Amino acid sequence: MPEVAANLRPLWALCVLCAISSSVEARVRLRGQGPGRLLHRVDPNFVSVTIDSSLAEDPLFMRMLSSPKVRVLAKALSPAFVRFGGTRQDFMQFQPQGKSRGPKSQPKPLSGWWEEHLLALWRKQKQRLTEEDASRKYRQVKFTESTLDELYTFANVSGLDLIFGLNALLRNDDNSWNSSNAQALLRYCEERRYRLSWELGNEPNSFEKKAGFRVNGDQLGRDFTRLREIMSQSPWHRSARLYGPDVGQPRGRTVDLLDGFLHSGADAIDACTWHHYYVNGRDTSLEDFLDPKVLDSLVAKTKRVIEEVRRVSPGKPVWLGETSSAYGGGAVGLSDTFAAGFM
Ligand SMILES: *[C@@H]1O[C@H](CO)[C@@H](O)[C@H](O)[C@H]1NC(C)=O
Ligand SMILES: *[C@@H]1O[C@H](CO)[C@@H](O)[C@H](O)[C@H]1NC(C)=O
Repeated sequence: MPEVAANLRPLWALCVLCAISSSVEARVRLRGQGPGRLLHRVDPNFVSVTIDSSLAEDPLFMRMLSSPKVRVLAKALSPAFVRFGGTRQDFMQFQPQGKSRGPKSQPKPLSGWWEEHLLALWRKQKQRLTEEDASRKYRQVKFTESTLDELYTFANVSGLDLIFGLNALLRNDDNSWNSSNAQALLRYCEERRYRLSWELGNEPNSFEKKAGFRVNGDQLGRDFTRLREIMSQSPWHRSARLYGPDVGQPRGRTVDLLDGFLHSGADAIDACTWHHYYVNGRDTSLEDFLDPKVLDSLVAKTKRVIEEVRRVSPGKPVWLGETSSAYGGGAVGLSDTFAAGFM
């Protein structure tokens, strides 16, 4: 038995399942170095998910979160985080409608017919989003209270902790973050008594490719410090969590960005997040999905990030803030098959 992280809860659950499904008794013995030595403690939320913020490009699609099927499946993941973020979070602004400040009406459950209809429309929408990604020209999207209501209700009834990714590309003339839109959103959440955690910016290492300008690590760290200040000023958000900077693979300038960010912003965050993908979805094969070298790339990259964080801000937890097998929406016929299980 390798010396693995030993969170016994899933193991225990598995044993119960075995006991129910058959009469065969299984005994599992963990061999560590001496009795009762704790090697590592895994967070109960260790399996968590992201809903891509592109879902909010059209409020119609937010209705999919009211699907009873989706909710039942999501509930099975609890306890977990559900992060709402991705490339488009940095092109989204909150536009409060200001009406209906009374008790919120619960979104109605989605009927089977509507669900089919939305899924058909979503296939077209996905095509549009893929084209937008290829051209790297993103439209600015406004979202209203109802988008947040749908999202929060979904997370809440599914027993998931919501992490909302704020737009880091709203900039003042001096390139500092303009927090006024985030403040409006925080105020709304306070009014509604929504408890959630926050992030600011998605893969800031590629802001230049996506938006045509660069934000360096030191500035981004100061932006996070500003957000933490704003949160501290509100009794409601004071104890809320903040995670970031959601950088991509640790290589070249991305490591410099992370380094600069940690110098000025480490105190503002509860965990340092980075993203990992093994391969490019448009240019990969079954061989890649089974190649030990590709599979082991996660280890080397994780070590690289941990090393950097330990050096600049020792003790700061490191989280994989987003990950999957293949970037670019996955590899068709691979990411959605058993082969991807190894990744
Ligand atoms: C859902 O909302 C209720 C009422 O505000 C709250 O007590 C509960 O902790 C929430 N659950 C989650 C998972 O956020
Ligand atoms: C920040 O953005 C808001 C809304 O777009 C704008 O009214 C305000 O002037 C900006 N603040 C600064 C300091 O540029």
